[in-house]
Amino acid sequence: MPLGTTLTKFVLEEQRKFPKASGNFTDLLADLARAAKLMSREVNKAGLINIIGTTGYINIQEEEVQKLDEYANMVILNAMEHGGHLTAMASEEMEDIYEVPDKYPRGNYLMAFDPLDGSSNIDVNISIGTIFSILRKRDGGKETTANDFFQPGSEQVCAGYFLYGSSTMLVYTSGNGVHGFTLDQSIGTFLLSNENIRIPSRGSIYSINEGNARYWYPGTSRYIDKLKNGKNVTSRYIVSLVADFHRNLMKGGIFLYPKDKKAKKGKLRLLYEANPLSFIVEQAGGAATTGEERVLDIIPEELHQRVSLIIGSNEDVIEAERYWKEEK
Ligand code: AHG
Ligand code: MN
Ligand code: MN
Repeated sequence: MPLGTTLTKFVLEEQRKFPKASGNFTDLLADLARAAKLMSREVNKAGLINIIGTTGYINIQEEEVQKLDEYANMVILNAMEHGGHLTAMASEEMEDIYEVPDKYPRGNYLMAFDPLDGSSNIDVNISIGTIFSILRKRDGGKETTANDFFQPGSEQVCAGYFLYGSSTMLVYTSGNGVHGFTLDQSIGTFLLSNENIRIPSRGSIYSINEGNARYWYPGTSRYIDKLKNGKNVTSRYIVSLVADFHRNLMKGGIFLYPKDKKAKKGKLRLLYEANPLSFIVEQAGGAATTGEERVLDIIPEELHQRVSLIIGSNEDVIEAERYWKEEK
């Protein structure tokens, strides 16, 4: 489709092309896009008003919650609860699931999301994002519980992220490739900027928090040493998963947050960080593993489950996994 096609038109056309595919996401994505525009506006004025800074509360992951995280969570709940598509939502900022209130119609989809990814970057004017994952509620039952969310990532029907960077972008997949849209602030519309994104099968970038090196297992250390001793290598780490992932998706590369002796299960969250990005990367021709298994095959056991994540260019990920497996 021509560059500049609006998000709504693009999604509608996609659905006409693949009528049997996943589902009707036109309105759902439009609702999400609206929330992202509000977010984008708030992010842009983060330095101007008193929205940055911490609330003093600690979230369920025992990290400091910053005000913009709460704002993002609220904006997304508000934007998504009345559309009639979802039956429940799960978020990094809420211990339990949020069921769509009775006063609104309930749909058949579930959404897990990270309202604000990269929150340590809010007050230093560095790119942050929002990540989402859409699942189908399997049984038609009325009640929704956390159990409904415990589906492997391969069952996702749509996933994406918004990146609030030098421009605001949406990147999403509903199982027919990965597409990118850029927000034209002057007209308030997301316009197609990157159709059918493919990640190079090899990259020269690696992204890992090297401050954790002393905690790494030998598989990680040996792989990173190998990269450093190679020819064509450069290191990039922003500390916003979305931003690190997006750069590597466009340029080719590998992002690693493997489990280590400190983060025994890994740091990143399976349902609303690793799964949606793994779906996207696979749709773009890349791969995602824990080092031991494909991320999308994991059957979740907890809403806020953490997981080891090695994600990016296909050949790089395969190689990193080999180093992991050799350790065993
Ligand atoms: P969040 O801001 O949603 O809590 O996520 C932070 C994540 C992710 O964005 C980033 O890649 C990672 O934490 C960075 O962790 P380290 O500071 O341990 O490197
Ligand atoms: Mn996050
Ligand atoms: Mn977050």
